[in-house]
Amino acid sequence: MFEGHDTTASGLSWVLYNLAKHPEYQERCRAEVDDLLEGRDSDENDLSNLPFITMCIKESLRLYPPVPAVTRRLTQEMTVPGKRVIPPGNICLVSIYGTHHNPHIWPDPEVYNPLRFDPENSKGRSPYAFIPFSAGPRNCIGQNFAMAEMRVATALTVRRFRITPRDSKVRRLPELILRAEGGLWLRTAPPTGANN
Ligand code: HEM
Repeated sequence: MFEGHDTTASGLSWVLYNLAKHPEYQERCRAEVDDLLEGRDSDENDLSNLPFITMCIKESLRLYPPVPAVTRRLTQEMTVPGKRVIPPGNICLVSIYGTHHNPHIWPDPEVYNPLRFDPENSKGRSPYAFIPFSAGPRNCIGQNFAMAEMRVATALTVRRFRITPRDSKVRRLPELILRAEGGLWLRTAPPTGANN
């Protein structure tokens, strides 16, 4: 339940929250999906071909990683930056949240900017800079499924609704997964000029 449901629920909630806060990106997502599905039923089409929505999801997973940290027990000695040596047997907490907010890797880390994930802007970035699904041999086995699920849900939601935030500020609540204090509340309205 935790690995497959709560994570995706958290991820999707934060994506919709970010799009609600950034109408310009929401509009671009809506245009992308409307364009793809024009005159056709959604189930006939391949909703994996939504590059801008994918960028919006990734940027949301960066800013609000559903799994904020993972732990690992060292099997061998490891030297970390600063020349500190961690002996084998120790359990280390790897902060996914901290990595995703590191200003040396992500300038203005608190700014929601999906264009960071434009392939042009991703060149040269370490594969370990963005690790919402962890990395290495025990990374998330459900990540492709999770991305597909979030893509479909985001695309069909923005196609049907214009979303706006209810609260101007939301406090992150890091538990086992990243929640929002009091929940994430959004307002919905029909999109102007929508055909469904
Ligand atoms: C946005 C959605 C998701 C996120 C952010 C996420 C994140 C993660 C992370 C960070 C880990 C590593 C945990 C650790 O090492 O302690 C993990 C492992 C795992 N995830 Fe996901 N996950 C997501 C969705 C899913 C889905 C949809 C499934 C199943 C359908 C799934 C199944 C698993 C399983 C079984 C593991 C354990 C893999 C192993 O230990 O070898 N996850 N996930």
